[in-house]
Amino acid sequence: MDNPYICVMIGIFDSGTGGMSVYREIVKVLPDEKYVYYADNAHCPYGEKTVSYIQDRARHITDTLLGRGADIIVVACNTATAAAIAMLREEYAPMRFIGMEPAVKPAALGTRSGVIGVLATAGTLKGSKYLTTRGKYEDDVRIVEHVGSGFVELVEQGKLTGAEVEDTVRRSLQPLLDEGADTIVLGCTHYPFLMETMQKVAGPDIRFIDPAPAVARQLVHVMEEESLPIGQDSFSMELISSGDPEPLRRIYEMIGG
Ligand code: DGL
Repeated sequence: MDNPYICVMIGIFDSGTGGMSVYREIVKVLPDEKYVYYADNAHCPYGEKTVSYIQDRARHITDTLLGRGADIIVVACNTATAAAIAMLREEYAPMRFIGMEPAVKPAALGTRSGVIGVLATAGTLKGSKYLTTRGKYEDDVRIVEHVGSGFVELVEQGKLTGAEVEDTVRRSLQPLLDEGADTIVLGCTHYPFLMETMQKVAGPDIRFIDPAPAVARQLVHVMEEESLPIGQDSFSMELISSGDPEPLRRIYEMIGG
């Protein structure tokens, strides 16, 4: 049978602008696709919300993305992946969803001190996906965790550097450094936007791991597996915000969109 797809629409969503850190890696490997990005900033942050709240939002967003023509969806949010990806895969089968993976493995392989830090939201750290991953590596390395308190709010406000950002970042990062972590996993897609400040606070010897490039590779892999055509059309992007469109527009421009 002929492949029914002429071109592919990739749907991406997050509680807000954080998923743009994943999109910027995706567009490097898939520059000629059609994209629709949904920022649920009227309901952001997701970090402390209940699983059923996030699942309801994930259903609503998925319906919107499908209505826009999405053929495959990237859940560019660790918290939504933890709370909702299993449900989405079940309820919307055979639609393919790509989720965020906590990058504990590369951190465990790369640490010299034997201590790795994980910065994420409370929802992600409680989720079974993270706990299972953690369980695989905790015999080999010591894993210490901290919620990046206030990080999401700063990124949504477009505050990425400066004294206030440094103070906020230090409060969550310092406990991990005090425990001897030399490698820090970024378990929330908003956090890479604070990289410059995090590196400044932690110093040059600390390595941060952003899982976004691996998620972009996984998307390509799944598209190939599904025989979805790649690079058949010219690039386009539709930005959707459930709240104020300004934060998403600002970050999109910042990453050169
Ligand atoms: N960017 C999200 C994540 O990766 C959500 C953060 C939030 O809304 O609390 O977890």
